[in-house]
Amino acid sequence: MASSVAASALDAEFYQSADGFFRSHKTALTFDDVTLATLYSEVLPRETQLDTRLADGLELHVPLVSADMDTVTESRMAIAMAQNGGLGLIHYNMPERDQLSEVSRVKNHVHGLIQEPIKVAPDQFIGDVLALIEKRKFAFSTFPVVDGENRLLGLLPGHVVKPRYAKRKVIEALQPRNEVRTVPERELGNDPIGRADRFFTENPGIHKLLVVDDQDRLRGLFTMSDIERITAEQAAQVKPARDSHFRLLCGAAIATTRRSDGALDRDRILGHVGGLVDRGVDVIAVSTAHGHTKGVGDVVRLVRSAFPSLPIIAGNVTSASGVEFLADAGANVIKIGQGPGSICTTRVVAGVGIPQLTALYVASRAASTRGVTLLADGGLTKSGDIVKALTLAHGVICGGLFAGCPEAPGQIMEINGKLYKQYRGMGSLAAMQAGSAARYGHSSTDTTRKVAAEGIEALKEASASVDRVIGQMVGGIQSGMGYLGSANLEQLRARARYIRVSSAGMKEAAPHDVVEIKTSASVN
Ligand code: XMP
Repeated sequence: MASSVAASALDAEFYQSADGFFRSHKTALTFDDVTLATLYSEVLPRETQLDTRLADGLELHVPLVSADMDTVTESRMAIAMAQNGGLGLIHYNMPERDQLSEVSRVKNHVHGLIQEPIKVAPDQFIGDVLALIEKRKFAFSTFPVVDGENRLLGLLPGHVVKPRYAKRKVIEALQPRNEVRTVPERELGNDPIGRADRFFTENPGIHKLLVVDDQDRLRGLFTMSDIERITAEQAAQVKPARDSHFRLLCGAAIATTRRSDGALDRDRILGHVGGLVDRGVDVIAVSTAHGHTKGVGDVVRLVRSAFPSLPIIAGNVTSASGVEFLADAGANVIKIGQGPGSICTTRVVAGVGIPQLTALYVASRAASTRGVTLLADGGLTKSGDIVKALTLAHGVICGGLFAGCPEAPGQIMEINGKLYKQYRGMGSLAAMQAGSAARYGHSSTDTTRKVAAEGIEALKEASASVDRVIGQMVGGIQSGMGYLGSANLEQLRARARYIRVSSAGMKEAAPHDVVEIKTSASVN
């Protein structure tokens, strides 16, 4: 007998939209509890767009962020993340000045117009310049020469920066001003990279182009190798995430630092953020285990009033009122996740936290009313989890997925013939002693006594490079979007249809009843 229910109505009964599904399941669900239904599609995976706008001035080409953890993100990881279109959040378990240097390394990695080129003075010895190169580990040896007013006197070419000329002064060896090619700053227009690219093509053999103002003061520097890399990447499939000056994007976490009397150390917090902003940071993250607190709200408000246009990520929360609280305090992006992380023990220790998909659903409804975006933070172990998270959030934060990469801090160690890297929770005793205690509401001096750790110290198998891990994740996300007929992430959020899976269904979803000889998901 033919069914009297139309096919689409039958689908709607079983495969529900986010509102229908989550509101009818009052159980807290996470990634493996749910699967996404396929939908009619005219979208090929390779045609899908993964761009995501987290805040004004914070746009990523892939919705992946590396966690602000001391075994995950320092400058090397942040550079790799941004080069792949994502974002790295540099952790704060290090002296403040070291974190500032880490941010500088990312922002100065390869960019279009170097606005603060390293300069030398005419009366310096070449030996001093060699010592500077050695000390700061510069990979270049050509420097503009300027007077005390920053007026251009010439260019010190790399071929004279040699030990044999160490006792000569820069003024004796420089290429004089009238032989140095420059472009007036006012002529750069709105396509400075194109302008520099044309200059290098029209002037074979010249590899540096200096930018000057009307008083001939040095305002910037283009190098041919940077311009070539940028023009090559404009044609490439994976586009790095860059700011309006073509510098890689970089984020940094800050602590909710307190004075000895327990009050927030407002001067120190503002000084820290000011330093990060001076180095060009694109977003700061007020990262704590419990973001729906007076302390976190006060810090977000403080930073927002001092830096009105700086994007702020804040968290972590798992409730609609938590999202509204942080959004009202001035945060643009809210981190969702309490206890899902692979090294987290918050739920075990404190009995608190919400499985990730339900937390994301609840948070997403508050986020859309407040006009803020969400990052799903923690618990993502496979690309399918990321697709599910992206049906409710604008991006994801991963720790464990990147902790085994060569770009993560720490040495590779060999145990019984296998290679591993250390990966520890920021709430583990060791990490809290190194500086992250405030994130869990403790002081760094009492971490050995009455404090319960909320994270563990662990190992991750050493994995492939960030390029390859992201390549695998992007492939999976695009595949998911193709199945859901979604050309971009906004469509993915609108179109997703969910259904609960049983444990037998979960078993069916993974390879079974075969002897596995090669895992397709492996990026080791
Ligand atoms: P994954 O699953 O990607 O999770 O390894 C990374 C996220 O876990 C959070 N995090 C912690 N949560 N105790 C916790 O409860 C901890 O010690 C801890 N350290 C990190 C954090 O949100 C990170 O992005």
